Amino acid sequence: MPVPTVPEISLHKAGPKSGLWRLAEMDRKFGTPYWAHHWGGGLALARYVLDHSEIVSGRSLLDLGAGSGLVGIAAAKAGARTVTCADTDTYAVAMTQLNAAINGVHVATVLGDLTAGAPPDVETVLVGDLFYERDLARRVTAFLDRCLGAGIDVLIGDPWRAFLPQTRLRLLAEYPGPDFGDGGGTAHRSNAVFAFTAEARDFT
Ligand SMILES: C[S@@+](CC[C@H](N)C(=O)[O-])C[C@H]1O[C@@H](n2cnc3c(N)ncnc32)[C@H](O)[C@@H]1O
Repeated sequence: MPVPTVPEISLHKAGPKSGLWRLAEMDRKFGTPYWAHHWGGGLALARYVLDHSEIVSGRSLLDLGAGSGLVGIAAAKAGARTVTCADTDTYAVAMTQLNAAINGVHVATVLGDLTAGAPPDVETVLVGDLFYERDLARRVTAFLDRCLGAGIDVLIGDPWRAFLPQTRLRLLAEYPGPDFGDGGGTAHRSNAVFAFTAEARDFT
């Protein structure tokens, strides 16, 4: 399979001349600008959604940890009935709205951490690259468990990060290629798409 490019989607991205440091200087709450790039997991999931539009077509979706909005925008382009993109970073929410506009799709946005709450009122949750810290991964996994319990389907795109709940995953697709920011140390050097499942299993 090819590296998961998504030429169907245009995204504002940071580059050497973006001057993000100026924003950071003006805003003391400026965090790591994850939203300024698309990540390996999100790229893979966006590619998968566009290539398998039947899994999102006509459905209501949440893109959790949306960042640039890449995954949610792909779902909207693939025919999702409604898309909500949630992120804890105010700049991610703004970037998602800008990126949705340049792609000619509508997505709703939520600023905040949904992982502590009840399952959302959607049919599918999409998660691109949200298992990069231990505590975050634990909270996200517990949230996704509650989602499964509420009958919500969950798909995850991830470059095999250390905190991925691998025993709970069924591999759907794998795209060779490095993750964004990969310093060359990643064992798998690929970006995968998984279904999150209720049953733990041996992962082979
Ligand atoms: C590595 S980026 C992935 C962005 C995008 N999904 C992609 O794959 O390109 C992770 C994003 O999750 C957001 N995030 C971190 N913790 C979160 C939480 N508890 N709820 C929602 N978003 C969160 C970050 O602000 C960041 O935008």
